[in-house]
This record gives sequence, structure tokens and C-alpha cells, in this order.
Amino acid sequence: MAGSYLILGATGEVGRRVFATMRSRGLSVKGASRRPDGAGLVEFDLLDSRTHGPAFEGVEAVMLISRPGDEEADVHAGPVVEAMRARGVRRVVVLSALGAERREDFSLRKVERLVEGSGLAWTHVRPNFFMQMLARPPLSGEIAELGMLSLPLADARIAYVDAEDVAAVVVRALDGPERSGRAIEVNGPEALDHHEIAAEIAGATGRGVRYVPLDDDQARRLLELRGLPPAHVERVLRFYALARSGWCASVDAEVSRLIGRPLGRFATFARRQASAWRVLGRAGDGPNPD
Ligand SMILES: NC(=O)c1ccc[n+]([C@@H]2O[C@H](COP(=O)([O-])OP(=O)(O)OC[C@H]3O[C@@H](n4cnc5c(N)ncnc54)[C@H](OP(=O)(O)O)[C@@H]3O)[C@@H](O)[C@H]2O)c1
Repeated sequence: MAGSYLILGATGEVGRRVFATMRSRGLSVKGASRRPDGAGLVEFDLLDSRTHGPAFEGVEAVMLISRPGDEEADVHAGPVVEAMRARGVRRVVVLSALGAERREDFSLRKVERLVEGSGLAWTHVRPNFFMQMLARPPLSGEIAELGMLSLPLADARIAYVDAEDVAAVVVRALDGPERSGRAIEVNGPEALDHHEIAAEIAGATGRGVRYVPLDDDQARRLLELRGLPPAHVERVLRFYALARSGWCASVDAEVSRLIGRPLGRFATFARRQASAWRVLGRAGDGPNPD
């Protein structure tokens, strides 16, 4: 690996792991955040083009993220891609999402297409749901306080993936042109239903945890109570409906080979994360030790 790297979203689940790995290997890497810290994190706001040029100066390869849930991610990515071209960036790894290619109107697919048409070398990384979603608010709080995991997923199986493994794929993709021009789907090693997931969490924490399947109306009400705006609520419900139809159930076919090790299983993750589900606190306040 040579050159200089910029990791957008370097405080997020995937970005902070990519950033830490590359730093630990002694690579020339900068992380980006809206809140720079003067210790490796530079200022970058997808919505503020004044921050783009300086961040891309001298950078060869970038991990590009979109804001979680951003329906206009492609609109916001436009000036970012322009700034990359203007500053001589050569390669982009797009952190996208599983199934992006199945919906041309999906905002992350529009970001992918924007990058494909930019003239920059690109790789798309399309992960399944992260295991970490179950160990951070609001779900961690509900499990810790009520011993309940309530989702509108019926008996759907999901091949949750550990963000550690997603980060390892991004690091490999940043590393060389041989992976350019392709998308890498990142599924976990096993597809579990949420009764099985609740049982794994119960086993790891030593406390009772049960899965409560919700119907769409119950889920809508819960998401509204959590303060999500109506458009966001409907978007989340659409994702759950896709998951119920089996979209997220395929297990890993190629990634363990790519990163040279077996992918993390949910049971291992649950043991590592057990303290996130034991803490009693308000939903939204629970620490995430991962
Ligand atoms: N979570 C999942 O299960 C999952 C699965 C598949 C794909 N994805 C995709 O992965 C991406 C990251 O999701 P995540 O759940 O990992 O998010 P996350 O851990 O909450 O991280 C979000 C990151 O976005 C950055 N960010 C937010 N607003 C920004 C802005 N205006 N300008 C620049 N950076 C901004 C944050 O950085 P600062 O706050 O430090 O600025 C933070 O580092 C999303 O596009 C999501 O769709 C997520």
C-alpha cells in the first residue's frame, strides 16, 4: 500500500475501524469528522463544500460515506466528488449498502452511479446490517431495560455482519487498483432469526431476553415515539419489509477469502458486547464499548 488516504466518517462504526487499522500499519491516513480533534481528524462536512478542498489536498484514495438515512445522499455527494477530482484524488471506495443495485431510485445507488461516472477508479462495498446496530441505542437500551428486542421482522433471517469485517474489506479495497470497478457484497457468516439472536444475547449476558415481533403499525408508533420524522419512519419500515422478504439472508460467499480470515459470528460479537446490554439507563444513553 502506498499513497495517502482520507477516511470520511472516521468516527462511525466502519470508518473508525478503517482509520485505526490504517494508522496502526503506519500508513499516511487522515480521518474526517465534522468535529476535528487536531489529532488526526480533519474537518469535513458533506454539507459544507468549504471543508472539502482542504481535506482532499494531497490525498490519493478516499473512503466515501453517506449520512445514515440520507434520502438525498447523491445530491450531497455531487460537490464532494467534484472536489476529489479537482484535488487529484485517484481512487474511491464507496461505503454503500446491501442490495443498492436492486433499486436505481435508492439514494446510495445514485451515489454509486455518480462515482462510476466520475472518471475516478472505484470500488463499492455493500454491507448487510451491522451487528453493532443491536448493541447501540435505541435497541441496546430496550434490551438492557426491558429484556426485549422488538422489531417488525417476523421470522426473517438476517446475515448480520460485524463492522470489523466491513472495515477489513474497505482497507483491502483502498489498497489497490485490482479491485477497481467492482462491488463487494459483505454478508455475515450465518443468517439468524431474531429468536436466535435474542437467545445469543441472553446467553452472553446471563439475563432473559426475548424477541417480540411487531406489526407495521406497532413499529411505526414505536419509531414515532423515538422521535423519528415521518418520512424517516416510512423509509425504515420499507427496509424492514425488504428484510422480511428475505433480502438480507444470504451468507458470505467471498469476503472471508478476501480478508484472509473467517468472518465474525454473532455469538462471538455478543460475548464481546455483553456489557452494552447489561447497563441500565435510558434508551439513547447507553454506552457502546465496541
Ligand atoms: N448501520 C448499518 O447496519 C448499515 C448497513 C449497511 C450500510 N450502512 C451505511 O453505512 C453508512 C454509515 O452508517 P453507520 O450506521 O455506520 O453510521 P455511524 O456509525 O452512525 O456513522 C456515521 C458517520 O457519518 C458521519 N457524518 C454524519 N453526518 C455527516 C456530515 N454532514 N458530514 C460528514 N460526515 C457526517 C459521522 O461523522 P461525524 O459525526 O464525526 O461528523 C459518522 O462518522 C451509511 O451510509 C449507511 O447507510 C449502514
